[in-house]
Order: sequence, then structure tokens, then C-alpha cells
Amino acid sequence: MTDTTPGGLENLLSEDRRFPPSSEFAAQANVHRDAYAWADADRPAFWAEQARDLLDWTTPFHEVLDWSGAPVARWFADGRLNAAYNAVDRHVEAGRGDRVALHFEGEGGDTRTITYADLQREVSKAANALAALGVETGDRVAIYLPLIPEAVFTMLACARIGAPHSVVFGGFSAEALYSRIVDAEAKLVVTADGGFRRGAASALKPAVDEALAKGESPVEHVLVVRRTGQDVAWTEGRDVWWSDTVDTASDEHTPVAVDAEHPLFILYTSGTTGKPKGIFHTTGGYLTQAAYTHKAVFDLKAETDVYWCTADIGWITGHTYVVYGPLVNGATQVIYEGTPDTPHRGRWWEIIEKYKVSILYTAPTAIRTCMKWGEEIPSKFDLSSLRVLGSVGEPINPEAWVWYRRVIGGDRTPIVDTWWQTETGAIMISPLPGVTTTKPGSAQVPLPGIAATVVDDDAHPVPDGSGGYLVVTEPWPSMLRGIWGDQERYADTYWSRFKDLYFAGDGAKKDDDGDIWLLGRVDDVMNVSGHRLSTTEIESALVSHPWVAEAAVVGATDETTGQAVVAFVILRGDAGGGEQSADEVQTTLRNHVAKEIGPIAKPRQILVVAELPKTRSGKIMRRLLRDVAEHRQVGDATTLADASVMDLIAQGLSAPGAKQED
Ligand code: PRX
Repeated sequence: MTDTTPGGLENLLSEDRRFPPSSEFAAQANVHRDAYAWADADRPAFWAEQARDLLDWTTPFHEVLDWSGAPVARWFADGRLNAAYNAVDRHVEAGRGDRVALHFEGEGGDTRTITYADLQREVSKAANALAALGVETGDRVAIYLPLIPEAVFTMLACARIGAPHSVVFGGFSAEALYSRIVDAEAKLVVTADGGFRRGAASALKPAVDEALAKGESPVEHVLVVRRTGQDVAWTEGRDVWWSDTVDTASDEHTPVAVDAEHPLFILYTSGTTGKPKGIFHTTGGYLTQAAYTHKAVFDLKAETDVYWCTADIGWITGHTYVVYGPLVNGATQVIYEGTPDTPHRGRWWEIIEKYKVSILYTAPTAIRTCMKWGEEIPSKFDLSSLRVLGSVGEPINPEAWVWYRRVIGGDRTPIVDTWWQTETGAIMISPLPGVTTTKPGSAQVPLPGIAATVVDDDAHPVPDGSGGYLVVTEPWPSMLRGIWGDQERYADTYWSRFKDLYFAGDGAKKDDDGDIWLLGRVDDVMNVSGHRLSTTEIESALVSHPWVAEAAVVGATDETTGQAVVAFVILRGDAGGGEQSADEVQTTLRNHVAKEIGPIAKPRQILVVAELPKTRSGKIMRRLLRDVAEHRQVGDATTLADASVMDLIAQGLSAPGAKQED
């Protein structure tokens, strides 16, 4: 198993700082210790109560959990509801229309304040426009937008008519967008001319045009938001402006009630093969766990808190903890379009001071970056409104955890380190801020209603103090219902490693108290800045370049981003490879990966080698390459087909320019 935690396992296990909840915090907390025993006594009944409490149903459910079709669960299946009604309309109907739903902050400082009543009108207009463009209940809509209010309106408009959305992160390339559009058979793409990033307008529409020019596509229309005002190419009959279609539509729309098991969205995520998986989630169970966890883990008080999750809507965190969880709970939140360092490195802290943010949810990589920039930057701002801090997406090293609490949280705020995945839909393992005595670096305990543990190779739970694989042992409401169009792959990927257990792909350890510490992926998935990338997908991108004969990619520990992509390539002399300088190879291949997948997948480093270490059966031994990439003594190489390969690689790398003459 790989320990990808910056600082390493040794560090983690010697971590003995403890932070009990203050008595004031505990006294006012939404969830108390007894929730665990209550949920354990009858897990489905616990979730049924949350579903009834937190959501409005047009047809109440009587069935709770049907696991007879395992591994596909059905929750609350005879109930009907609408996700957008739950996230928007019911708050207005209850007299809370004037409450701010979204404080939007553009990168350049432009702002918009959107109340729940505004949101109802905007979402209704968008739903009417989508319907006028031919989108019907069950049709799929691809969304390729920056983090602007229209992204939220569009997701909710889809939910309002029961058309599953597939949000594609704006940092993905035209190629990646095309494959996702085709896989989901999306009828409509919603995009923008561009968005503002790092002080400049960055285009989005050209990637949609390029994607749709690649071949046959199911797309009938492209709906375009004008954000930056930059020039865009236009396909008459296909492309329509948001301002002509949505802004002119009626602001009244009746939400379509759907079955609890109706698909709400598809979200593509990297797996261990070259083809991303379309993880799909349904409505009733997903919303139940999104709302419950948002309220319990962040101790949300909707009347007074100002909540800010820094994730983009292109990731699951943006779905569950920007759109569905907070809005179903009637929260007031901040959304911010840009980067933390534009126009200056205090931008986030300025936003917290300005809106008096009380709950902040972000990723360890952002915290480590701010640590690097220095604590004198946040200390210039008034952060005293903060009362809960969250972390997500990758293991947080104890030093970053302690810095986060001390510098950002004023030594006062509880920290919740939340473990979950695109597949789990919502938080699974996390401290509860009014209950748990926290340990820096540990996600600690499964939430009430969640059954997870750590097992050995034979699926036996490991004793306290030992490591193994993280598994979920009982179905949960927001679990994925499968991989879009490929249920066999769903069963194979998650349910075949251990019989009847959900295998998450993460290594974990239980400490002497039974608390869980996540140790990173045990499969060929990397985690770069909290984003999932597949080694195989990047390898396929590299070998699609004419210079490359073979490629192997590993995730090497990186101080800031958790892991970084390091690629080893063998060049094809016959195709012109091998005649370039190491610099040219680096630049060309990095750009090629950006074009094939997106800039987030660019390798930090590309090393040209003569051979790759392989077992006798031809499997690349990534473990050894990781040793090289992390400048460690190379480990046991006895199973290599050719034991001299590692010497060759090491020699090649120590040569100036690291260019292999072959
Ligand atoms: O390896 C785990 C890591 O992120 C993976 C899930 O990635 P994704 O589906 O993109 O979702 C990220 C946001 C939920 C997991 O398999 N991960 C997520 N949260 C944590 C974590 N690793 C350690 N600690 C966490 N809190």
C-alpha cells in the first residue's frame, strides 16, 4: 500500500495532539453523541426519519431500503419529490424568500446577491427555456460553465424538469468534454463565452465548438451565457444566447415530481482504466444524505450562518456541498468565481471578512498553499466570524491541520476532516464538531447511519492499531446507483474485491482507539490537489503522441498538491522522438496531455528513459518508479523481468539533461 500522506505514515502515527469540543460549542450543536446509537439500532429507520424531516415529498414513501437488487440499492422508492422544489421553492413558500441564497463574488470584484425568491425566478426561467429547447424529463444536459450563478440555476433547472445533468469541469479539454457528451448522450450543452481566471478572460465556448466538431453528437442546442463578452464563433440554428432564451422566459414553472430513484445527475470521475466512469446518483436518497451531512457535520444554523465551500461545481463537492446540501437546508452561502491569489494572495480572507463567513470548507492543498505564502497574509484580515472549518479531497497532514485551526480558526474552531467520494455522494467519515475530540490528520469515525471499517486481504476487519483497506459494509442513501451505461463495470470495480463489501480504493489504518486514518489510494488512481486522476488515462494520452512508444505514470508525493503526476516515457526514434532536447520533450508532451485531458492532468515532470520496469507478466511496477520519482532508495526489484532496468533508469536520470541516448 502506498502512503501518499505528505510527511508520511510515521509522522501520522506519532501525532498525539487532541482537541475536544468546547462546552459552549457542544451545548448548541445540531447533533449529539446519542445519534450514533440511535442510528446503529436501526439504520434504515434512522435514514427514513432524516428523509421525512429534511425533505418535502409530493408522495410520501413507505418503502425505506430495498437491497434485493444488490449492489444497486433503492431508497424510499415509492416516494416522489422534486429536488429543485426542495432546494428553492419550499423556502419561499415558508416565507423565507428574502433570505440570501447566494452571495456571488466574481474574480474581478463584481458581485450579485441572489435571494431564495430570486433563485426561484431564475431557476423557473431556465427550466422553461430548457423545455422550450426540447429538454424533457429523463433527457441529459451537459453543463460546461465557470462558477457563476447561472451554473447553479442550470443544475437546478435540470433537476426541476427531471433531466439529469452532467457537469463537466471547465478545466477539461474539448476531447474530454466530447467523450462525456457522447457517453451520456446529452441533448443540450450549457456553456459560457468564458470565465475570469487569474485576472484574464479564459474562453470556454471554443472547447464546446471543437468537441462538437469531433464527430457525431447527440447535441441539438448549445445554450451560451455571456460572461466575459469575448468574441465567440456561432453555429446558427444550434447555438442560442442565454439572454435571448432564459432571460425572456416566464418565471413561473411547476416542478416535475419524480420517483425517488429517478437519476438526478451523472458525474464523470477517473478510474483505473483510460475511460472515465459516469457515476450516477438518484434523487431521494442522495438529497437525504446531502442535507443531513451538511447540517450535522458543519453544524449549520441556516438563519445565522454564512457558509462557503470553495469547490468548483465541476466536482462532487460542488454538487453536494455547494448546490444540493446547502440549498436544501436553506443556507446562505458565498460562491467565488476565481483563484485564491487574484488579484492578491489575501483574496479568500478578504471574502471571509466581507461576508462574515462562519463555515469554511476547502481542500488541504489550498491550506498548504496558504501556509507557504505565510501567515502574515490571513492575519491582516478579520476572520473572527469563522466557527467551523472543513477539509476534503485528500489526506490532510497534521501540520496543515494544526496551522488551519490556529491561523484561520483562531485556535477556536473545530475542524472536520471529511472522507467521501464521488461514488459515495456525501460525507461518510468525519468528526462531528460538537461531539468528537479531534485528532489532526484523522477523519476518525463513520457518521451516524454509516457502516465503514478497515479490512485485511481476506476481508476480515483489522484490529485497532492495524492497517488495510477501507470498505463500507452497509448500503447508504446517497450511494451511487451505478456507472452510466455499464453496470457490469460498477459491480466489478466496487463489489468484486471483497464479497458484499463496497471497496473504496483507499488504504486506511485504525488507531488504538479505533479511529480511522486515510492513507491514500491503493489503486492506479492519483490525487492531485484533491482531484482524481487516472494513471492509465494519462498514459493513454501520452502514447497517443507520435514521439512516444511507451509511458508509465505515477503519483509522487508533493508538498503542496499532495501528489504530483510524474511520467516516464520511452521515445520512438523512428517518429522523430529522441531528436529533441529534454526541454522540448517536456513542453510538447505536457501540452499534449493538456489537450487530450485538460491542464489539471499535465505531468509535473516527464522523464525520458530507455526501459520501464516490468514484471515477467509485463505489468509495469509503478512502485519502483514512485521510488525514483520521490528520490528514494529503490525498493525490492526481484520480481522484475530484467533487474538491470532500474540501474539504467537511475543512471539516465543522473545524466545531465536526463536525455536517454538509445
Ligand atoms: O482517496 C480518497 C480521497 O479522494 C478520493 C475521492 O475523490 P473524489 O471522488 O474526487 O472526491 C473528492 C471529494 C469528496 C477518495 O477515494 N479523499 C477524499 N476525502 C479525503 C480523502 N482522503 C483522505 N482524507 C479525506 N478527508
